[in-house]
Amino acid sequence: MIVYLNGAYLERARAAVSVDDRGFLFGDGVYEVTRAVNGQLFEWERHARRLARGLEGLGIQLSGGLERIGLPEISERLLDENGLGTGDATVYLQITRGAAERRHHFPPAGTPPTVFLGASRLAVPEAIRAQGAAAITTADLRWGRCDLKTVNLLPNVLAKEQAVAAGAFEAILVRDGVITEGASSNVLAVIGGVLRTHPLMPQILAGITREVVLELAAEVGVPVALEAIPQDGLARASEVMVTATTADVMPVVKIDGRPVADGQPGPVARRLHAALCTRMGRAAVRAPAGATGPARPV
Ligand code: PDD
Repeated sequence: MIVYLNGAYLERARAAVSVDDRGFLFGDGVYEVTRAVNGQLFEWERHARRLARGLEGLGIQLSGGLERIGLPEISERLLDENGLGTGDATVYLQITRGAAERRHHFPPAGTPPTVFLGASRLAVPEAIRAQGAAAITTADLRWGRCDLKTVNLLPNVLAKEQAVAAGAFEAILVRDGVITEGASSNVLAVIGGVLRTHPLMPQILAGITREVVLELAAEVGVPVALEAIPQDGLARASEVMVTATTADVMPVVKIDGRPVADGQPGPVARRLHAALCTRMGRAAVRAPAGATGPARPV
């Protein structure tokens, strides 16, 4: 596989980042995971806006600005050169504050940020979608700026590991009695016929899939409320689902070992998933009933 690192295209195995890189030392950087369908980036402009907000939030400056790098062109070239011009793929992009002698405050002005991009095949978890996914709930131990998509993901890593150890697909994070989001997804629930999800605040990431799905809900006539879901509200939910670039709309049918409603994927999730697939220009795959697959996390 060919990747992009600081202006060069090179074999993935040859791509190396300095041990002084602040991404390595401090998790001092931001990232994006963008979906590609048949070589086309999905909602790139939204990812670019979120990335720009993240860079601004961290005070990372790129000389000549972000646009000058040509991130969408690099992404498309990586998809093409790596044989990912058809089917589902993702492009991972990371920008750190660069490599400099270790100190906590910012490095000297002019230290060039590190820019890395790599494309990969995405195995969309269709078998899990057909059956519905299991989730656990766990404490949201993250910092106060979860709206910035930083590579500082340790609480997410630990939460996801807890989910996987429990045989679940996702960890639903709970702070002060309400659901914020998933370890690597946003959480939505249908309660009293209304699709509810946490409003955009520093406590959650503004997921691109969430944003698109909320627009699609309005288009297909599903009422939406941007209200946090109390943890005890899950027992009243007729459906729970998570959204992410790597999972699309994933129905959650079991939480902490208890079924959500009748324990089957529901109609709202199915409809929103179909609408999302249409928007992505991708056929909504229906795995055969009873299909099993590895409980691959988002
Ligand atoms: N994560 N919330 C968190 C904490 C996330 O890490 C993600 C995605 C989302 C969903 O955002 P989007 O719809 O833009 O993918 C919400 C990516 C997929 C990851 O870290 O791999």
